[in-house]
Amino acid sequence: MARPNQALLDLAALTHNLGIARNLAGSAQVMAVVKANAYGHGATTIARALEPGVDALAVACIEEALELREAGIDAPILLLEGIFESDELAIAAEQNFWLTVENEQQLAWLEQARLSAPITCWLKIDTGMRRLGVSPGQAHDFYQRLRASSNCNNELVVYTHFASADDLASNQTNEQLAEFEMVTQSMNALRSAANSPGLLGWPAARYNWVRPGYMLYGNSPMAAAHTNARDLKPVMTLTSAVVSVRDVAAGESVGYGASWRAQRPSRIATVTVGYGDGYPRLAASGTPVLVNGQRAALAGRVSMDMITVDVSDLSDVQIGDRVVLWGEGLPLAEVAACAGTIGYELTTRMHMRTPRVVIDEA
Ligand SMILES: Cc1ncc(COP(=O)(O)O)c(C=O)c1O
Repeated sequence: MARPNQALLDLAALTHNLGIARNLAGSAQVMAVVKANAYGHGATTIARALEPGVDALAVACIEEALELREAGIDAPILLLEGIFESDELAIAAEQNFWLTVENEQQLAWLEQARLSAPITCWLKIDTGMRRLGVSPGQAHDFYQRLRASSNCNNELVVYTHFASADDLASNQTNEQLAEFEMVTQSMNALRSAANSPGLLGWPAARYNWVRPGYMLYGNSPMAAAHTNARDLKPVMTLTSAVVSVRDVAAGESVGYGASWRAQRPSRIATVTVGYGDGYPRLAASGTPVLVNGQRAALAGRVSMDMITVDVSDLSDVQIGDRVVLWGEGLPLAEVAACAGTIGYELTTRMHMRTPRVVIDEA
């Protein structure tokens, strides 16, 4: 009998979530972000399911794009960080990879290259994230040089990325939009700004292309509940099972460092998932866990391969009982908050030790 951990992937939920993104996008084209192994879900499985319904895909780097091409994905793929070496240009031209251009080095390499075909370029403008992108003051010069380069085709897109779009109370998104508008309005190019929170919460951010990632996996990135995110369905459900059950007397401790101590005679179920599987070690005692569909609470520190759960209030918990760590019936964001992190990190850091199992075809 194999270790019972599985990351179940509901691809029908994925296409349902894409439908929500498409509705919100209106006439804008949709680029699905599948970087970092599709946020840990499995890049080729996710890209294959999304491909019929999207206009393009996006990844971080050329290695991730090549993996998708090798798996037979034909959609255009944007490299969100552009290229790191000039050699990547010839591959991009051949493979229909689209390039972010965000600094002088990348632009100079493009201008100097001899390519088999011109490339679709996405000029990134830094309006406040201060991570990648040319400054608003440099943007027109970059725009003119891209337009003048025979290595850049006519499909030029200018884009920016939000820092705080998950927070509707923050004014930063309005400031970024105003800056983006001012810099790009005289450019004869398609425009893009919205990531998932931009698409869910900021109608003015839709422009010609939207770039959702996180929401497609069925989770809301918004800081507070939002009606547009209400019907998203989780794609990944992380499941495991109870492998041992014991009674613990009042006053006895459980786990490393004896950080949890029974306040009453308690029943502890051991579940075979730990930080070596991608369950966060920083999840605090009290983090919700579903045992047989009922909520119970993590008790004591997360080990590499196991956690311990207080099931005192549940009836008849047995070895082999099904456990859900997040996903269907237990929101990822709730678990992430108990570990001091965000859902993005939990799925992205899911170890490959845990098999991804498709449970519902798209
Ligand atoms: C430039 C860019 N666009 C879009 C996204 C997708 O963001 P989200 O997963 O919040 O939709 C990312 C992800 O970090 C990004 O870097």
